[in-house]
Amino acid sequence: MSVLRSVVLGCGSYLPARILSNDELARSVETTDEWIVQRTGIRERHIAAPGEMTSDLAIHAARAALANAHIDADTIDLIVLGTSTPDQTFPATAVTVQHALGISQGAAFDLQAVCSGFVYALSIADSMLRCGKHKRALVIGAETFSRILDWNDRTTCVLFGDGAGAVVLEAQEQPGETSDRGVLTTHLRSDGKHKSKLYVDGGPSSTQTVGHLRMEGKEVFKHAVAMITDVIEDAFEATGTTAADIDWFVPHQANKRIIDGSAHKLGISPEKVVITVDRHGNTSAASIPLALADAVADRRIKRGSLILMEAMGGGFTWGSAMLRW
Ligand code: UT7
Repeated sequence: MSVLRSVVLGCGSYLPARILSNDELARSVETTDEWIVQRTGIRERHIAAPGEMTSDLAIHAARAALANAHIDADTIDLIVLGTSTPDQTFPATAVTVQHALGISQGAAFDLQAVCSGFVYALSIADSMLRCGKHKRALVIGAETFSRILDWNDRTTCVLFGDGAGAVVLEAQEQPGETSDRGVLTTHLRSDGKHKSKLYVDGGPSSTQTVGHLRMEGKEVFKHAVAMITDVIEDAFEATGTTAADIDWFVPHQANKRIIDGSAHKLGISPEKVVITVDRHGNTSAASIPLALADAVADRRIKRGSLILMEAMGGGFTWGSAMLRW
């Protein structure tokens, strides 16, 4: 018997040219490189140029993913773009990407699950491909968090950066074993009782402004490891795998201490963890596909690698995904 699986054909990413170091930040807010590195693992982040929008980052990443997959853009019939920093309130940034790529078939939409945006987008695209209505999907995470930061608030402005990453998925008929390629399982969760712990204090319906990111960092930190490990246990259970089977753990890149704590609790050895938070900061929905592209580019991730991803963010939303590359 064969089943439809969403198989990764390629991935790509894009980072804006401008790099903002901790030392440079320390000249405008009361902070130090030492504090930021010790508490978060972040050393620098990329910041979009004036006029450079989330769609611009997403288009670069999508083109890189299509080139890596060796396929033409007009074979894509689904674009799911995870972002909390769209170009405009509407239309969806995904349709701007669709148009720039010369695609006029299928469907394109944005998905808003903050830092869990890529895992959510991957899960939704996977479901849509497996039900047979779409054939090839671009799953993108793209953000310009620099635009919603309060640059006078040292508790948040040192944490985030801009960037985009994308993967191309294709629905393929195959036996559907754990050893076969493709998305093996995804698990999505949310709990709105935590919605005031990480939010933006503006929006079209509330203030008619864009607003700034506000976070009770300690509260988020407190829940992060437990929530992450919970959905990863779900992924292990659904696939009959264990930490020992994982080739690469590609977590959301918010804080090195959260990543280390989760990997330790799950028994995933540090050599199997892909880390980019030191160079990218927290790029929200873009962080996982940026990290994937990094590990593919230097050939850590290869065809057949078993990849475990997780994310947790505002809402709270959280989720995991396991796939055979
Ligand atoms: O991706 C979405 C999910 N987001 C996250 O996962 C973020 C989760 N939270 C965190 O990563 C951490 O809580 C932070 C990195 C945000 C903060 O680390 P912390 O160890 O929880 O520090 P804290 O908030 O308890 O602050 C400790 C001290 C405070 O001073 P006092 O009250 O002890 O005098 C802060 O005011 O550090 C101070 N502080 C800073 N000092 C220098 C806060 N931000 C800074 C800063 N530079 N940038």
